[in-house]
Amino acid sequence: MQVTAGFLQGTALHIPSAPCQRCRHRQAPRPSATAAPARSSVESIPNATQFTNDIIADEKQYIMQTYVRPELVFTRGEGARLYDAHGKEYLDFAAGIAVNALGHTHPQWLQAVVEQAETLAHTSNLFHSVPQVRLAKKLVELSFADKVFYANSGTEANEAAIKFCRKFARVQAGIDPYDKAAEAPYEMVSFSNSFHGRTLGALALTYKDQYKTPFSPIMPGALMVPYMDLDAAAAVIKKGKTAGVIVEPVQGEGGIFPASTAFLGGLRELCDEAGALLVFDEVQCGLGRTGKLFGYQNFGVEPDILTLAKPLAGGLPIGAALVKQRVADAMAPGDHGSTFAGNPLVTAAADVVLDIIAQPAFLERVLSLGERLRSQLRQALAGNAHVKEVRGLGLITGIQLDVMAGDVVQKARDQGLIVITAGKGDVVRLVPPLIITEADVDIAVSILAEIINGL
Ligand SMILES: Cc1ncc(COP(=O)(O)O)c(C=O)c1O
Repeated sequence: MQVTAGFLQGTALHIPSAPCQRCRHRQAPRPSATAAPARSSVESIPNATQFTNDIIADEKQYIMQTYVRPELVFTRGEGARLYDAHGKEYLDFAAGIAVNALGHTHPQWLQAVVEQAETLAHTSNLFHSVPQVRLAKKLVELSFADKVFYANSGTEANEAAIKFCRKFARVQAGIDPYDKAAEAPYEMVSFSNSFHGRTLGALALTYKDQYKTPFSPIMPGALMVPYMDLDAAAAVIKKGKTAGVIVEPVQGEGGIFPASTAFLGGLRELCDEAGALLVFDEVQCGLGRTGKLFGYQNFGVEPDILTLAKPLAGGLPIGAALVKQRVADAMAPGDHGSTFAGNPLVTAAADVVLDIIAQPAFLERVLSLGERLRSQLRQALAGNAHVKEVRGLGLITGIQLDVMAGDVVQKARDQGLIVITAGKGDVVRLVPPLIITEADVDIAVSILAEIINGL
């Protein structure tokens, strides 16, 4: 199929005026590739209540119950808007947990995905493919890094980073890395309130015990010290012991805590002295979220390894570890790999995402929208005894409450605004698509102010 402007304007495939066969949803035409995302009306699907109840009942019956979800089924997204089965519109300030940086069904992203799916979706990493090389070249040219390793998620990117740290330590120690009896530094240091993922290595570096204890014993050699406490870090980062230190330049799940230049710079020095690698986990704060392409660029401190995931492919599963040459040099063919990682489909999608986000004007907009959001929130919530702080950088913002934030999240949802929690559940987290407008910010602020000032 040829992807034409007509397709994007809703005159061809999957943009029916009759109910769509796949989602049973009557849809309005999509906006053109150049038009700003418009508010479109989406009709309720027939028997929306029954449809919603059936989906929720089947979810309970057929899907393992590891998530707590509201009684809500989204059936469509467009720009910064989501629609449920009833056709109710929601302003999306969660973006699939900081994933949909370009919003939903962005025309250029959609075009890239469709064209690549029609051309070549997957070959495995046994063969070269064009989009993954094109994307890696851009990531390297735009960052501190010399090489890219692809993964499928944030936790996998971090798992790769842990392996790189350990192998690097073995190579540095001058031992045969494949000698089972050989010993080399293997400890990994992470910080309180961190979140690095759910697989057993990344999990060991993640803060919350409740995520770890049921699965113990997890990865050995994981040490955790308070975030922003350089003295505590200095006490555990040791030559001959530490392989790597992993830190989020802006903590996301932990409650939206930006680091400081002094802290990250101090970690850089400690790692250099100990011969350990410094890993920045930018899975949530990377790729434009902070108003810089990479989070580290806010602090002027470069890591040895940087992990990316969430927004990189605009909603398709991808992860990446960007590394310095000396890290890449420590890894040999066969040391790590993945069947799906960086396949042509996801890397073609990511290529478009990166091209758009990396534009200076786009990043400046993220900065100014973030400033607008936080200054309006501070103004609207001034004097509210439940609000301890409004903090963030670019379009990652947390409203620190002195009560649990679940009630605010639910009331906002009822009023058509999707937000999520962070921290101990006492932070309202705002991580909207980066393509929101000033008007979207104003709507979100007015809904949140009304709710929080009514607490
Ligand atoms: C900073 C950070 N690292 C890693 C992860 C794990 O990513 P994933 O859920 O894609 O495995 C997350 C997820 O929220 C994250 O915020």
